[in-house]
Amino acid sequence: MTTLVPASALSELNPLPRLLMGPGPINADPRVLRAMSAQLLGQFDPQFREYMRDTQALYRGVFETTNAQTLCIDGTARSAIETVMVSLVEPGDRVLVASFGRFGQLKAEIARRVGAEVRVIEAEWGTVFDIARIEAEIRAFSPKLLACCQGDTSTTMLQPLAELGALCRRHGVMLQVDATASLCGTPLPVDAWQIDCVTGALQKCLAGPSGIAPITLSDALCDVVMRRRHIEEGLRPADYRPGAGRIIPTNYFDLAMIIDYWSERALNHHTEATSMLYAARECARIFLQEGHAAVYARHALASRAIVSALEAMNLRVFGDQANKMPNVTGIWIPEGVSGDRVRSAMLDEFNIEIGTSFGPLHGRIWRIGAMGYNARRDAVLTTIAALETVLAGEHHRFTRGAGIDAARAIYQQG
Ligand SMILES: Cc1ncc(COP(=O)(O)O)c(C=O)c1O
Repeated sequence: MTTLVPASALSELNPLPRLLMGPGPINADPRVLRAMSAQLLGQFDPQFREYMRDTQALYRGVFETTNAQTLCIDGTARSAIETVMVSLVEPGDRVLVASFGRFGQLKAEIARRVGAEVRVIEAEWGTVFDIARIEAEIRAFSPKLLACCQGDTSTTMLQPLAELGALCRRHGVMLQVDATASLCGTPLPVDAWQIDCVTGALQKCLAGPSGIAPITLSDALCDVVMRRRHIEEGLRPADYRPGAGRIIPTNYFDLAMIIDYWSERALNHHTEATSMLYAARECARIFLQEGHAAVYARHALASRAIVSALEAMNLRVFGDQANKMPNVTGIWIPEGVSGDRVRSAMLDEFNIEIGTSFGPLHGRIWRIGAMGYNARRDAVLTTIAALETVLAGEHHRFTRGAGIDAARAIYQQG
């Protein structure tokens, strides 16, 4: 049989070096790419087990937690969200989702697929929840789990979380936080804020590729999951007793088996995604070497520079500014300007990617991200300069140079 392989498919991989200034993914820190090119190892190699232990310790530092079960799920961010839900929630359990954007909807969707009784409360896109509203819903619904985003990238909003964990503990509710887009861009001290589970990703503020998701889990949450522990045939130790709880209805995302795999017992599960583990380890090292406070300040500075530039360019920033994510900024697309044409010109002429959003905001806002490796002065100034040129071509009314001057002034003030 002859298979027709087009010549283009045989050409060498050589993507244009884009500057990724959208809502993520972003450009990886070159150190991460170098770490990923290290030679492969098997997951039972003593060197590799040490890298796994290092990675756990590093992410305890990132998450500011002592949680023993701090590890990585092989898959993109939603794989970690799904792993936790499918392993914790049983059909008929109540799950409350506090949704303020598309990624709140994602958690409701996953919980429904797991068979939970799901109640979704919504905050208008561009706003976040008042904690009293969440408390009233918890009282009325008595959920097993409350799930929400810290930062919902689709709306660029950041839910304040400092009080939420304590509130959930008072009511006997577990709290699952999706910090895919906010982890390492803004504070998230997991133990101090009493959060049972946080899931993250590398491709935003951690300056790495998507494909592996760091997570941290409280002992209380793990106890519930471990009651459902059923070890796969062929791996069962002599003293094996299956958990009393219902079997977790997935093999790949079975958190009990994944915990066993990461433990000193090293029970086999999947073949580790070696290069992704190297990436996760390097991302955490880079973050911790710079330090929590310095990284958060770098993201906040980039945010101030971008907002100030946009306002100087006669553009309107989207959403409640008091609760804006520092690493992503939404901008109303001005009347008479083609949002798609602007994004295409940015990409085709300047090699800069910016985003739009989803659902009701699709085509109505742009989103500019400055996060991780790209939360840098040069990346921000280059993006603003290009946007000014493109918007002038669209006959948007503003003073040429005002945006770039405003952004530079913020950086000069520091
Ligand atoms: C807040 C949030 N949650 C979940 C996801 C899903 O992540 P992934 O595409 O890595 O599965 C994203 C992706 O952008 C996100 O921003």
